[in-house]
Amino acid sequence: MSINKNSITYQVYNMLKEKILKQELKIGEKINSRKIAEDNEISAMPVRDSLLKLTNEGLVINKPRVGFYVRDFTEEEIDNIIEVRKMYETYCLDNHFNNIDKNKAKNLKKKMDLIENDLNRKEFDKIDTELHYTFIKASENNFLIEKYDQIKDLVILFQHIHLTRMEKSHQEHQKIVSNILNGNKKKVIGLVKEHLLDVNEGIKKSLGKNQNK
Ligand code: NI
Repeated sequence: MSINKNSITYQVYNMLKEKILKQELKIGEKINSRKIAEDNEISAMPVRDSLLKLTNEGLVINKPRVGFYVRDFTEEEIDNIIEVRKMYETYCLDNHFNNIDKNKAKNLKKKMDLIENDLNRKEFDKIDTELHYTFIKASENNFLIEKYDQIKDLVILFQHIHLTRMEKSHQEHQKIVSNILNGNKKKVIGLVKEHLLDVNEGIKKSLGKNQNK
């Protein structure tokens, strides 16, 4: 019995997490737990357990007596998360540049060129994630990779928040991967820093955080 209950909770948890990360449930939106239970013909318990788990992971906010909401981020929190990303990515590039998987980079460049004239969200996201992981994996340090994984959900969520700048990001990715293949470490680090700064701006703009600037 308990296995069954757990697996329902696990399924609901995965479903809700995906909806949040893909922004089908928007930032700041109230989550209607009763409707989720009804739509999936399950009891309220696994929905509540899932939402509590997501609250622990920082993707959901639990307002007592009001309900669950998709978490919103302050400007400062966005800065802080991007800073952590920058720290890991530039560190790995600076210290393990020669260890970057060149075949993987070549493949990524091919994939980027292929979607150049027909940019679609799904492919773009996949390439984006793969590219940034290539830097991290160059460290071959499982402790470091595990730490970076802790912010992975937020990275994916942020990908789906700033939808407007896919073309610009795509061009930046192309420049980055070309310079990896040319062995131009300094240039790559500079480009990645600029890219993350742009990502930061894009997220804030999409969330309406810097309207007064
Ligand atoms: Ni990127």
